[in-house]
Amino acid sequence: MSRQHTTSEAETRATARTLATTLRPGAVLLLLGDLGAGKTAFVRGLAEGLGIAEDAVSSPTFTLVQEYRGGRLPLYHADLYRLPEGVSLDDLGLDEVAEDGVLAIEWPERLARPVPGAVAIRIAIDDDTARTITIDATPAA
Ligand SMILES: Nc1ncnc2c1ncn2[C@@H]1O[C@H](COP(=O)(O)OP(=O)(O)O)[C@@H](O)[C@H]1O
Ligand SMILES: [Mg+2]
Repeated sequence: MSRQHTTSEAETRATARTLATTLRPGAVLLLLGDLGAGKTAFVRGLAEGLGIAEDAVSSPTFTLVQEYRGGRLPLYHADLYRLPEGVSLDDLGLDEVAEDGVLAIEWPERLARPVPGAVAIRIAIDDDTARTITIDATPAA
């Protein structure tokens, strides 16, 4: 487990960028934290770290899953916020699609089952610009 404090969006992106360099195909990252915590900002940093243009990344408001290519690995970015609880990765067509790349999921609380081998990234809001980011390879079920 690692815990880091950041005091700007740029620092949060830098944390994600560093993590991205260690990721292998099939990696699943669960992004936990309130609205405005910095989950999408973290995904921007992942994209940068994978060599994808960071401005490609936006909140997937109208599409459930966005796919960003052009980097070391494809990055799949899902935001489950608007879904009812109890969905599964295969309902979403995400079980196989992500095997060749990195899958980052905002609001994984909506998933019916824990994802084996996923890395949980919790972003807690400490104040306006301060966040505590906890990265944990064994998410609580
Ligand atoms: N330390 C920080 N890390 C990440 N975002 C921060 C930080 N400080 C302030 N922010 C701001 O918080 C907001 C996070 O937004 P976003 O990444 O869309 O959150 P989420 O996807 O979790 O709802 C942005 O406006 C960002 O500039
Ligand atoms: Mg978001």
